[in-house]
Amino acid sequence: MKVGIIGSGDVGRRLADGLLDLGHQVKIGTRDTSKKEIIEWIDKHKKGGDKESENASVGDFADAASFGDGLIVLCTSWNGTSNAIRMANPSNMSGKVVIDTTNPLDFTQGLPPRMAVGVTDSAGEINQRLLPGSKVVKAFNIVGNPHMVHPDFPGGPPTMFICGNDEQAKKMVTESILSPFGWETIDIGGIEGARLLEPLAMLWITHYFRTGTGNHAFKLLKK
Ligand SMILES: NC(=O)c1ccc[n+]([C@@H]2O[C@H](COP(=O)([O-])OP(=O)(O)OC[C@H]3O[C@@H](n4cnc5c(N)ncnc54)[C@H](OP(=O)(O)O)[C@@H]3O)[C@@H](O)[C@H]2O)c1
Repeated sequence: MKVGIIGSGDVGRRLADGLLDLGHQVKIGTRDTSKKEIIEWIDKHKKGGDKESENASVGDFADAASFGDGLIVLCTSWNGTSNAIRMANPSNMSGKVVIDTTNPLDFTQGLPPRMAVGVTDSAGEINQRLLPGSKVVKAFNIVGNPHMVHPDFPGGPPTMFICGNDEQAKKMVTESILSPFGWETIDIGGIEGARLLEPLAMLWITHYFRTGTGNHAFKLLKK
C-alpha cells in the first residue's frame, strides 16, 4: 500500500518507519524537506540500500496526500492542523482512509498543555468536517510515539481505542496496521468518540509530566 503521512514530527517519522517495516511505500509530507530530521530520516533509509530505501520518500503536504492510494496519516501539531489540511488539499484525500493521531493541545499557558477543544466537539470531529470526503479513523493518539509500533509491556499488548464513522475503514486500520504493530484494538464507535479519546491522551500526558517517564500505555482488562 502507498501511505501518505501529513506531518514530519516524531509521530510521522515513527509511524513511517513502522509502515516501511510492514512493506508499505511511505511518503512523508512537510513544509520543509530540507529540515534536519527529514534529511536524517531519508539518509537512514538510503543507507540501508534495501527495499526500504526505495519505499521511503518525502514531499510537501499535497504530494503526500496525493501519494497515499488508500491511507493517509494525519500527524500535525494542533495549531497547524487546519493549515496543513488546507495545504494538503482535502480533495487529494477524498475517498481515502485518514488515520487521525492529533490531540488538540494548547501550549500557550505552558506545561502541561491544556485541551483546546472537548466535551461538545473534538479534534477528530473537526478533522472529519475539514475532510468531508475522507474516512477519518482516530488512532494512536493515546500513547507516546516511542510505543506506537510494536508496544512491548510486561502486562501484554496494550489497548488502542479507535473511533470513526466508517466501519470498513476501522476494520482496515485494525487489520492492516494496528494488529501487525502488535496492538489489541477496541472500536468505541463513531468519530464523536474522539471526545473521550482526546481527554484519555491528556491522562497519558498528565502521568508523563508527573512521573517524567513515557513508558505507560492503557489496557482494558476483561474477564
Ligand atoms: N509526540 C507524541 O508522542 C504524540 C503522541 C500521540 C499523539 N500526538 C499528536 O500527534 C500530532 C503530531 O505530533 P508530533 O509530536 O509528531 O509533531 P508536532 O511537533 O506536534 O507536529 C509537527 C508537524 O506539524 C506541522 N505543523 C506545525 N505547524 C504548522 C502550521 N502552522 N501549518 C502546517 N503544518 C504545521 C509540522 O510541519 P513541518 O513538517 O513543515 O515542520 C510538522 O509536520 C500532534 O497533534 C500530537 O498532539 C503526539
